[in-house]
Amino acid sequence: MNTFTDSGLPWDDYGALRDENLGAYVPDNETLRAVAFVDKGGTSKTTSLAHMGVVADQELGLDTLLIALDGKQNDLATHFGIEGDDLEQATRWPTIAQAFAPNIDQIDERLRSEGDTDDGVLADLAVPTGEGPDLIPASEELDGVDKSLSDIDDPAQRYSFLDDFLSQYVDDQYDLVLIDVPGSTSNVAANALWATKHVFTPVRPSPLDTKQAAKIRAEINEKRERHDFLSDLELTMVVLSQVSSQTKAGRYFLDQFREAFPVELSPVPVRDSQAVINAQLERETLFAHDSDLSSAEEARDQYRQNTAELVRRLGTPGWKDGIEGVDAEATSGPVAESEEVAR
Ligand SMILES: Nc1ncnc2c1ncn2[C@@H]1O[C@H](COP(=O)(O)OP(=O)(O)OP(=O)(O)O)[C@@H](O)[C@H]1O
Ligand SMILES: [Mg+2]
Repeated sequence: MNTFTDSGLPWDDYGALRDENLGAYVPDNETLRAVAFVDKGGTSKTTSLAHMGVVADQELGLDTLLIALDGKQNDLATHFGIEGDDLEQATRWPTIAQAFAPNIDQIDERLRSEGDTDDGVLADLAVPTGEGPDLIPASEELDGVDKSLSDIDDPAQRYSFLDDFLSQYVDDQYDLVLIDVPGSTSNVAANALWATKHVFTPVRPSPLDTKQAAKIRAEINEKRERHDFLSDLELTMVVLSQVSSQTKAGRYFLDQFREAFPVELSPVPVRDSQAVINAQLERETLFAHDSDLSSAEEARDQYRQNTAELVRRLGTPGWKDGIEGVDAEATSGPVAESEEVAR
């Protein structure tokens, strides 16, 4: 998808970029897609997706769909205040679990013929977040889906359900799809990797976990090597979260990750802000949240810059080509690191 190649868009001037309608550049039958993926909990995956989804939809003009695959947790739904009865309503049959059903076409047909409108399955699954993007909440049935996928021997079949669902039902309705997955080893997560081929990894650096960067690299390499269908899996962006470049520790982590991910690191880290937590307590993102804290505006700007760059990368095949440092990924460096982690 050469969405933004040769588009001449003002990527380094957010104010000017905001005046553009990036949705107009995404072909009608395609979507830009990414999955937030890292084998560690609490790294800001859900918070990042919520904020970046709002920026993409509200400020950059991309019709955005968030998809939650985190089973019982459903943190994206909570983030936007879809809880209690609202969540119960939103997760009545059909749910995202049906996207993994072999008879999804029949379900879609049935909904079209039964309803007053010609809305098919997607209209039943996606709910508005109230801040721009739509959300398909997770379903508790996903655990069962994961088990039944294990019974399918052919990997091309086992891992392609979500890709087929997006291509058939979502691509012509949205421009951007951002997916939240739990853990990294499930069949459902593998479906998300296949469907997106683009990994977005938020990291919350820890002074004790010195192998964090190597583990991220090793995990992507391991998926690429183990599964033929993931040979073109791309680590598209690594974002340091809850890190301030104003502090000594923040600068230390930034240096460390810049060295490990000279190409993939996002333009800026996202700082720690009490306003993020206050906004979440009110079930909204910083973009809907009234806060006088200067840290709120700083964090908003950081989400903006990172979202614009993520979108640019998703729509520019070969964006890594020719960037200094990219060779390190394809050659011995990361492999050596992954061996180190494995020991
Ligand atoms: N910029 C920020 N400033 C302050 N707190 C933040 C920020 N980003 C995330 N957090 C907090 O960090 C915690 C973890 O965030 P989040 O739930 O988004 O992570 P996650 O990777 O989705 O976790 P899980 O693995 O449980 O799904 C939350 O309590 C959230 O409020
Ligand atoms: Mg989460």
